[in-house]
Amino acid sequence: MADLDNYESEIERLKSLISGEGTSSVTSFSPEPKKSQEPPTPSKASVSTHATDTSQSKQSEGSNAEQAEGKKIPNVTTGPVGLDIGTSHVVSAFKKGESLKTFKQLNAFFTIPASNFTKDILAQNNIMFFEFDKKFYISGYAADGFANMFNTNTRRSIDKGILSPRESEGIQVIKAVVSSIVSKPTKFGETICFSVPGQPVDSNISIVYHESVIKRFLSTLGYVPISINEGLAVVMSELKNENYTGIGISFGGGMCNVCLAYYSVPVITFSIQKGGDYIDAMAGASIGESATKMKGIKEAGLDFTSKDVSDRAIIALQIFYDDLIITLLKAMRDVFSSSERIPKLERPIPIILSGGTSLPNGFRDRFQKAMKSVKLPLEISYINVAEEPLTSIAKGAYLMAQTESV
Ligand SMILES: Nc1ncnc2c1ncn2[C@@H]1O[C@H](COP(=O)(O)OP(=O)(O)OP(=O)(O)O)[C@@H](O)[C@H]1O
Ligand SMILES: [Mg+2]
Repeated sequence: MADLDNYESEIERLKSLISGEGTSSVTSFSPEPKKSQEPPTPSKASVSTHATDTSQSKQSEGSNAEQAEGKKIPNVTTGPVGLDIGTSHVVSAFKKGESLKTFKQLNAFFTIPASNFTKDILAQNNIMFFEFDKKFYISGYAADGFANMFNTNTRRSIDKGILSPRESEGIQVIKAVVSSIVSKPTKFGETICFSVPGQPVDSNISIVYHESVIKRFLSTLGYVPISINEGLAVVMSELKNENYTGIGISFGGGMCNVCLAYYSVPVITFSIQKGGDYIDAMAGASIGESATKMKGIKEAGLDFTSKDVSDRAIIALQIFYDDLIITLLKAMRDVFSSSERIPKLERPIPIILSGGTSLPNGFRDRFQKAMKSVKLPLEISYINVAEEPLTSIAKGAYLMAQTESV
């Protein structure tokens, strides 16, 4: 406990560096209230099957995934498919010839008024969209380009890891986004394994609706869909040498997912509905900057090994990174300690960190340092970051799909 106090006082010390503004505005941040709404099935929705323009996007670090834009995915997909449906990105993994390929698409959209002229222009430029209720829903990376032009933000079909109750057309957007990186299977009834979050411990929202709606949609493509817990997918892709025994953690955009697996069996799974978006929003609110700006600074190369702590934005990002890590570790300690299912392990087990939020240089050490403060009721052998944090979940899902389709 004394260690935890030390660690938290370190966070307080960093907070004080943000000249008095930090703590008060942090507490004033509150997420938008949620309305419950059933997504209608649009009668005349049409999805352009064209992949979108590459010029708006750049390859992210930590991923060899091909962006969907400009890259033609095969018209039909041969063999099983792994699919990671996340708050920020959707990633697919399937075999093309002998090698396993991954494709990535932004899970975002932007609406513009529908007109025949614009429709032709969008189609000519391979911009992915569908039409509903006199509006065009520009989906995927192209939505970013439009949002930038209008100096605003894209909208999300998934909020904090789960189908957004605020966006009634959310499932239509997911359909468009998924269809840009997954084709129909050559063999009807091929297996597709998609990631689902664990039950959040910090909210009472259920994942059941989210999972069933996605399952139904994937069935209509001609697949047999099965789901995999997101943390288990991390274990599947990274812990072959440990007999799939250990803890997989995905630090995503909307949430963090944890799975303790024993010989590939998920023993304990859960999530918290905080992730990279939380860091951006809270750090931005603390220094009077937009979350979008903070996200840009963060992704441009936040480096925990840097000794330079003069930049307020960097300090604010570090504070809320620490806040997220500590929140997650406390949740792990509490869930593991109160679980009757915790296995009596014969030896220490590893932890694998994955997801886009685990990308900054020095993240592993930051996590390890925080672990000295929050004692887990398990012996840990080592902590590693996944080889490719942005694609490891889709790859783990692929492995599961491959096994199940035999
Ligand atoms: N280089 C980077 N440094 C820090 N953060 C990054 C970097 N690249 C991406 N991110 C962050 O990673 C997050 C997205 O990660 P990821 O694609 O794993 O999430 P997701 O699977 O879509 O979301 P979730 O699993 O929460 O539903 C975003 O918050 C993004 O800002
Ligand atoms: Mg994810």
